[in-house]
Amino acid sequence: MALLELRDLEVAFRTREGIVRAVNDVSLSLDRGRTLGLVGESGSGKTVTALTILGLTRSEQTEIAGEVLLDGVDLVTLPESELRDLRGRRVGMVFQDPLSSLHPMYRIGWQIAEAVRAHERVSKKAARARAVELIRGVGIPSPEARVDAYPHELSGGMRQRVMIAMALALDPDVLIADEPTSALDVTVQAQILELLARLQSETGMALLVVSHDLGVIAEHADEVVVMYAGRVVEQGTRDEVIGAAIHPYTLGLLESIPHVDGPRMAQLTPIPGSPPSAVDLPPGCAFHPRCTYARPSCAELVPALLRVGPDHRVACPVLAPTSPLTPDKPRR
Ligand SMILES: Nc1ncnc2c1ncn2[C@@H]1O[C@H](COP(=O)(O)OP(=O)(O)OP(=O)(O)O)[C@@H](O)[C@H]1O
Ligand SMILES: [Mg+2]
Repeated sequence: MALLELRDLEVAFRTREGIVRAVNDVSLSLDRGRTLGLVGESGSGKTVTALTILGLTRSEQTEIAGEVLLDGVDLVTLPESELRDLRGRRVGMVFQDPLSSLHPMYRIGWQIAEAVRAHERVSKKAARARAVELIRGVGIPSPEARVDAYPHELSGGMRQRVMIAMALALDPDVLIADEPTSALDVTVQAQILELLARLQSETGMALLVVSHDLGVIAEHADEVVVMYAGRVVEQGTRDEVIGAAIHPYTLGLLESIPHVDGPRMAQLTPIPGSPPSAVDLPPGCAFHPRCTYARPSCAELVPALLRVGPDHRVACPVLAPTSPLTPDKPRR
């Protein structure tokens, strides 16, 4: 049994503008010690997927269907009180914007110590000592001095590290890192991902890394899930998705990765156009208006995610028209 498994997850928000189907039929699985990269442009549903795992999208206006299984227990139907107990402790999350998740008025050491004390019965002194160790563990220089810093005194990259330290204080089985890299420069991005990889090798935790950057994901993920407009368009192992990509959107993302060693920006070919609005999705395959391979039929049916390799699935009737195996599930 996988540690974490999403089965046909659907999340829809009722808004004044209409129903936003932010996540449709997302299925994925993640094991201990493994890293799964969730990639896609802005608005593709990555954060909503991540938040829904922790039950953080629950509200009167939200409809959630499908399953989120943690060791076989469905979190979608779990009562809020039980979910609260498991949040952070079993599934930790590092949010997209560390400034909004750190309290600006408290020193970082105190905030980490509080996280430690929420998890273990230890004295304030022991919790502070543990905070210093956690700060050291995430590679922040002079931890004894930095423990007394306020969030605004740290750089964006350092704040990300503080967030990671807080999440690790609870020793989670799964750590979800939502875009640990946005708004950070490329070198800092790479350092944060290397840090996560090291921490993973020390703790054996499973990592779910969310990013728009397929280049970042390519280096660190064992499995890759590519989302477009709330749906999975391609998924599989890193070798399948990065090494043998089929979906035009994945191909476009791969082409838009800047090559560090190539002539500067020379190979950068951005995907034409921009992602659609979630309240007004194009009919059929949502990517068809931007797709160079599109045929008229692409505007008619939402393509099924067909299996094309052992773990490889692609939703494109043009480039992956037939499946040697049966489709997972017919799509609406
Ligand atoms: N609470 C909400 N109510 C209504 N719509 C929402 C809500 N949260 C997210 N959405 C919409 O759901 C869609 C997916 O949003 P999401 O934040 O998951 O995108 P993302 O892939 O994380 O993008 P980014 O890369 O910019 O972080 C977007 O169209 C967004 O506007
Ligand atoms: Mg997001």
